[in-house]
This record gives sequence, structure tokens and C-alpha cells, in this order.
Amino acid sequence: MSRGEGDIASPLNSTGANERASNPAQPAVSSQPVPATPRTNAQPSRPNSAPSGPTGVTPGPARTTAPATRPSGPAQPPASRPAGPTRTPGPVRGTPRPNTRTGANPLVYKIRRVSALRRYCVPVTTVVLILASLAVIGILIKVVLDNYYFFCTKSFKFIPLDKWCDGTQDCSGNEDELRCVQRVDYSNNSIARLSESGSIVQLYGYGRWNYICSDGFDVARAKAVCAELGYSSNPTYSFVTRNDIIGPFSTILLGSNGIEVIPVTGTCSSGNVVSLSCITCGVNHDKQRIIGGQDTSIEHYPWQVSLQYMGSHICGGSILNRRIILSAAHCFQMSDQQVDRWRVQCGRSTLNYLFASEVDKIYIHTLYNLDLKPYDIAILKLKTDLTFSDSIQPVCLPGFDISLPDNAPLSVTGWGHTVEGGGNLASTLQKVAINLISRSVCNQEYYNQVLDTMMCAGRLSGGLDTCQGDSGGPLVYSGDTARWEQVGIVSWGDGCGRPLKVGIYTSVQAFLSWICGIMKAEL
Ligand code: ARG
Repeated sequence: MSRGEGDIASPLNSTGANERASNPAQPAVSSQPVPATPRTNAQPSRPNSAPSGPTGVTPGPARTTAPATRPSGPAQPPASRPAGPTRTPGPVRGTPRPNTRTGANPLVYKIRRVSALRRYCVPVTTVVLILASLAVIGILIKVVLDNYYFFCTKSFKFIPLDKWCDGTQDCSGNEDELRCVQRVDYSNNSIARLSESGSIVQLYGYGRWNYICSDGFDVARAKAVCAELGYSSNPTYSFVTRNDIIGPFSTILLGSNGIEVIPVTGTCSSGNVVSLSCITCGVNHDKQRIIGGQDTSIEHYPWQVSLQYMGSHICGGSILNRRIILSAAHCFQMSDQQVDRWRVQCGRSTLNYLFASEVDKIYIHTLYNLDLKPYDIAILKLKTDLTFSDSIQPVCLPGFDISLPDNAPLSVTGWGHTVEGGGNLASTLQKVAINLISRSVCNQEYYNQVLDTMMCAGRLSGGLDTCQGDSGGPLVYSGDTARWEQVGIVSWGDGCGRPLKVGIYTSVQAFLSWICGIMKAEL
């Protein structure tokens, strides 16, 4: 192969080489001199391979030996090549022979094609590679910045990540402390509560809890009471005769300051009190409880959600209304306080990080303390309303006076680890059927660390329990009804599934006023 042919065949790795290849007037770096006369485009043979004319270097003997198929003697220049004094007649290696049939020269055509390819492909590929590299570098910089720095948009500066949501202002306008987990206690915010049996309304006024007489009660009043409880959906109500209720009683006036409680002396003139339902909740298609953890589908526990921090599942949670999610305070460790990095995945049986909802606010209990977890409760407010469906439904809150039967059958769900110390989350939502364990029995094993704001559930024989990653998830009860109420929030335990070391749950009943106070404030 001639050097020229070799040049054509071998890929070029620089634009300059490419330009040289397509412009014979600019020779590649070579020891060969430049032909004096420029060649036409139709004759793009490289100076290196072209025979020298009178002004060029005389080829050595090897070059004068033409291939057997090539006519010896003075070579006829191709039709397109202007004959001229700079052309050397004679055998030329690498000089294409004209195609006698079409007049086209295949080698010239190939050279043109290769030249065109080089002219366009190399620059385009180079640009694409540069852009791709810039994108990769950009992503890397963003990942590094996201993991180590917070950007103050107003003061246009980066601060180390541990200064974000640390309780101290580091950016102008307190920007670094605005969207963080907040400690609140709005327990005295709501003056309404519902009983477990029959959802009978009570309102606080005159230093006592009053039943509401049906006299004069209407939709507007029902809505006002539901707003007190933190629900804005269309309520349903009924009037019931309850001989077991001895009062005190009141009626409601709707004033400019909201509900006004008017005490009633004696009993209601109608003889009826108000029963209220603020939201359709706790409805699913699963009444079975199966011994042992097993795969389940979200339609059976449509209130179950996954709380995700920077794309990782951290905890479970439950839907209370279109905007409010209930979970555990310990899910929001000191390093995970940034609200905008949290997402809530609803309506899916498997963990999926693409369709999760954005979070507007996160509240934990003011008194929450990591060591003993006596106030292990949190509420998340979503940025947008959830659309309820078969796979997205709110769970019911229990009545303020709920009293679970001994050994009550309960269900708990989550994507947490399926073995203690196991590194993997469950890919499909798991459910486990367990039972209420009395606090006194539980405290024998837990050295009285189980407080009144907590409850115990599991199997004393071990094997059925929640585990890491289930925290914040709902422990639900339905008894003989078709309505599921959340009675507990997965909180802590000694290991997972160990005999006698059952799971400890935050008692929802103990925090109803904390929950409703926030729900009311966030309506
Ligand atoms: N704290 C755990 C979590 O963050 C839940 C532990 C529950 N343990 C138990 N044995 N039930 O996910």
C-alpha cells in the first residue's frame, strides 16, 4: 500500500488532519515537498502519494514499478486532471485509473466520500463529545454541591450542608432556615373531637366537653365542626338518640369567629345528638388477616405511603386527607431536615421514585426526643392535593375514647427490612397480622420504657414484627367493621421479630389533638 492510500484508510484524529486531507493544497506534515501546481478537487490525491512533477522529488525505483494491471509507460492523466507542466507522465502508484465505462473514478469517489465524512462527522462528533462531557461535568458538580453545599439564591453564596436547617441563619433573609422540619404543638388549636362509638361530636366550651344537640344543626355547622378537626371535604351527619349519653349538651352558633358553643340546660329538646363523618376513610378491599408477613397490594392498604429522602425510601406514612400524611418524628434525623428533599410516594405497591409528591411542610412534635421517643410523631403537608382512587385513600383516625379489646387483631404494613439486620428493603409492600400486647406485659421486657403515649403490638413468640424502614407506617384496626382506623405509628423495638421483644408504636389516640390541631391550621 502506498503511503497515500494508507493515509486515506487510517482514521484521522484531528481536525487539522481532516482539513489537510480534503485540501491537497495544504500538505500534511511530510518530508515530501509540495507540488507546485494546485490540484483540482477532482484530483484529491495527497501530495505524499502523488508522483513528483519536475518540481517534486523524483520517486525512488520502487515507485516506478507499476502494478501488472497498470499500463506501463507514460500515464494518461485522468480526464478531470488538467495536463500541465507540473504533471509527470509515467507510472503513478496510487493514481486512480479512470472507469472506462462511466468515466467516474471509484477511488476518487471513495476519497471524496471519506473526505466529506471527515469534514462533517469529526467536527459533529467532537461537538457532541464536548457537550456530553460538559453535561457529565455539570451533573457531577451538581451532585457534589447537592451533597456538600446549600446555595443561598438571595446572597448568591454556597454554605456547607450542615449549616442548612441547623437553626442558625447563614443566608440573608434566613433562606437556609425557611424550609426545614418544624417542631410544633397545636394541641389546643382544635375544640372538636369524635367518639369511637358512633362518631358522636363533642365540642369544648365552658371548661367541658359538650355533646351537640341536633336542634338547629345543619351542613354549615357540620362543615365548621369538620374544619375544627382538620377536614375540608363534604361531611355527612346524622342525628342519633343515645340514652347512654347524659351530657353536658350544647348547640352551635356560627359567628364571625367561627364556632360558638351555646350551653343547653338539661337535655337536647330533640332528644338527639349529632354524629358526624368528615371524610370517607379506611375503606379497602381486604378483610383477611394472614399470619406472617407477606406481599400485599396497595389497594388493600391504600393509605400507605413511602417517605423518600433524596430518592431513597426512609420511612412509611399514612394518608389522613388530600394533603396530610402522618408519620414518625424519628424519620427526620438531624441531617434530613430539608423539606424540599423529601417526597411522598402514594398509590403504589412497589417502591418507585419517579412519581412521588412534593412536600410543603414537615412538623414533628415539640417534645420529641431521640433517646426515648415518647413523642415520635410527624405530619407532612403535601404541596398539591392527592386524587383519591382505589390505591390512594385516607385512613380513619380513631375516636378520642377508643379502647381496643385485649389482644386486638391489628395489621401493619411497610417496605422495611424483612430480616433483622438485612440490608434490603422489600420490593413489594408487606403486611403482617399481629395483636395488641398489653403495656404491662410489654414493659416487663422493655424495663418500663413503654410510656402511655406508646403501645405494643406483635407476637410474644417472635417472628412477626415490623423492622427498619417500616417506621412511620400505620398500625391499623378494623375490628368487626369495614372501616380501618389507624391506632399506631411504627416507632421502635429491640431488634426485629425477637421473642418477647415486640414492636413499639406511637399511640395515635394519645396525639389526636396534636394531629387535628395541625390539620386545622393547615386547611
Ligand atoms: N425504628 C425503625 C425504623 O426506623 C422501626 C423499628 C421497628 N422495630 C420493631 N421491632 N418493631 O424503621
